[in-house]
Amino acid sequence: MPLVAIKPAQASAPAKIILFGEHAVVYGQPALAAPLSSLRATATAVPAPEGAGLTLEVSDLGERLILRPGELPPSHPLARAAALCLDTLGANEVDLTLTVRSQIPIASGLGSGAALTAALMRALSGALGVSLPDDQLNGLVYEIERDFHGTPSGIDNTVVVFERAIYFVRDERPALLTVGQPFSLLVADTGVRSSTKAAVTGVRELVEANPGEALAWIAAIGAISAQARPFIASGAVAALGPLMLENHRLLQLLSVSSPELDHLVLAAMAGGALGAKLSGGGRGGNMIALCASGSEAQVAESLRAAGAQHVLTTRIEAHE
Ligand code: PMV
Repeated sequence: MPLVAIKPAQASAPAKIILFGEHAVVYGQPALAAPLSSLRATATAVPAPEGAGLTLEVSDLGERLILRPGELPPSHPLARAAALCLDTLGANEVDLTLTVRSQIPIASGLGSGAALTAALMRALSGALGVSLPDDQLNGLVYEIERDFHGTPSGIDNTVVVFERAIYFVRDERPALLTVGQPFSLLVADTGVRSSTKAAVTGVRELVEANPGEALAWIAAIGAISAQARPFIASGAVAALGPLMLENHRLLQLLSVSSPELDHLVLAAMAGGALGAKLSGGGRGGNMIALCASGSEAQVAESLRAAGAQHVLTTRIEAHE
């Protein structure tokens, strides 16, 4: 007999971009991030016949995993996420099918893993009729990030779960960003997939080999995040452009840019952007470009002509 009644449930979570401070945030420096709500991961839960256990279908990847009660924590991140969530909610025997889909490209700096995990856990708790507050969900998604991605700062899970632009310092309570004037960013994909874990390890090696220099670059990135915050709050959007370029230069020094990212940053500037930088783990994946109002189409055209695979526009909305 299943112990819990299951009802159909659906949930989603967004991708994210990092405006300032990736990598430095791992070393305790502040970073700014925002949700990319137009790209989402979705999870659907439906009841299954008695005794079926939990089946996890990861449709985009063509995977079908079955979790049975009493099994050891599985090695697949999403199966482990389901097991952790069930355990936390005190419901180990469930008969349901969870289908997970995502529009977010993997290994591209957009937080796809955190979004998939958050959507899955939300659908699972919804199906069980148990409330899973965002604070608790955030902690659970972080646990999965830590198991599978090395030493995450926690910024991805936080922005994906709360779906608000944030100012984030590791191990501190995140602050919601005040945004004085809405502004638009383009998000462009190099098409190169790259492991965040490998990029984070590369930075760690630099810090170990040459701590004086590398930690100075990391501190300089933190200072940029701190400078950007009041500009965003007061609506001084144009002032963010030079800060983005300087942040990108420091990320180049930290070895996490790539020829493709540098090429798209230059193309954005040639197309009239106010500033541009890589976003996320780097060495591939996505970059962002800040556009003066009305110049988005021209900058997007320049990015496409330079080989960007997908170009999205996102708006950071005004918030108190
Ligand atoms: O590549 P993403 O989307 O996982 O972003 C990683 C952000 C880093 O600062 C590079 C790592 C971290 O844990 O904060």
